Amino acid sequence: MTRIGFAYNQKPDDPTLRLESETERPEDEPPSRRRRGTPRRTRAAGEPAPRPGAEPVPAPHDEFAEWDSAETVDAVERALSGLGEVIRLEATDDFPARLRSARPDIVFNMAEGLRGVSREAHVPAICEFYGVPYSGSDPFTLSLCLDKARTKELLAYHGIPTAPFRVIPAPGTRHAARGSRPESRPPTADAPLFVKPLHEGSSKGITERNYCRTPAELDEQVAFLLERYRQPVLVEEYLPGAEFTCAVLGNGVAARVLPLVGMRFDALPAGALPVYGFEAKWLWDRPERPLEIFECPARIDAGLRETIERIVLAAYHALGCRDWSRIDVRLDAAGVPNVVEVNPLPGILPDPADNSCFPKAARAAGMSYDELIRACVRHAAERQGVALPATAVRGRSRRAAING
Ligand SMILES: Nc1ncnc2c1ncn2[C@@H]1O[C@H](COP(=O)(O)OP(=O)(O)OP(=O)(O)O)[C@@H](O)[C@H]1O
Ligand SMILES: [Mg+2]
Repeated sequence: MTRIGFAYNQKPDDPTLRLESETERPEDEPPSRRRRGTPRRTRAAGEPAPRPGAEPVPAPHDEFAEWDSAETVDAVERALSGLGEVIRLEATDDFPARLRSARPDIVFNMAEGLRGVSREAHVPAICEFYGVPYSGSDPFTLSLCLDKARTKELLAYHGIPTAPFRVIPAPGTRHAARGSRPESRPPTADAPLFVKPLHEGSSKGITERNYCRTPAELDEQVAFLLERYRQPVLVEEYLPGAEFTCAVLGNGVAARVLPLVGMRFDALPAGALPVYGFEAKWLWDRPERPLEIFECPARIDAGLRETIERIVLAAYHALGCRDWSRIDVRLDAAGVPNVVEVNPLPGILPDPADNSCFPKAARAAGMSYDELIRACVRHAAERQGVALPATAVRGRSRRAAING
């Protein structure tokens, strides 16, 4: 039976609790096992004072926002078990040793990584080191896409529209050592700007405050993000138009865009900024009261859909994405689709009430959750010459034996 390794990072039980610093993370304990009451943890630092007239937004408790819940991990494991024996490999400090002793035929990778700007590349790089095939993009593409400015530079080189931007370096980061980077098209002075941490996902550090209309607002929010996230800040022109997120599945000429997911910002609370940020994703959208913000397939005319699909596939190929990725697109003031960012490790929450866009697009394409996960593995296996059963099998899981 095919042996499927499963690499993931699982959220701690109570993600609202935080570590004082990365270095205090206990070596012997996966983050998912930390319990309430451990004295090392503390609450997040506060935010700048609310702007006059603006609703105060709490500082996001978002340290583990990128990681997956136990529910997602279990659902993926069930899906993978249709392809063979699943070996859970939580991507903690001893992942290399466990991978080396397990030697699966292929690894399904959804590990977001522990630390650093190349964190998403770690599991694929370790798999390559041991010669174990794995799903998804390679370490280079994963690191590239986690640097939103480098991604935009590459998109611009290939003529793929993306908002004009500049980068504010953070003290002590590698970007500061090199100084500012070239700005091919800096944002224009009078347009509203949108700022975000350079190396985050899952809307970490993205709240309504990131929309800046004045130099004072820009200075305040850039200072807050530099201090809170300790990394450079991307300053972009604000794209005022409609937003879509686009799931891509497959490789080469067979790569295809699943039905587009459109954002219906009128579903946000009255007066909310039309962005899909931390508040929309984690505060206003709850399983017990799902935010009806998505429309899939997006109801747009065929011309716009084809333009978006063309741009999205061009970005997918230009960045070297493999097997799957989710690409965010927004229209600029002229109605031109711009690539906002590329997610080569897309979120895949299993419960439809959780409003996860990739599984939603797959459902609209007639694929179940299990079929989506298996399709990703099949694309990866095909690329690397790994044999998989033609139809689903009854696999099992080796959790205790390998995971300790
Ligand atoms: N230049 C921009 N103009 C307008 N809105 C923007 C811009 N950049 C980002 N946004 C808004 O902020 C949201 C989050 O930005 P982005 O997708 O870059 O962050 P992320 O945290 O990586 O997202 P994800 O959860 O998809 O990983 C976007 O979906 C969009 O609504
Ligand atoms: Mg996004």
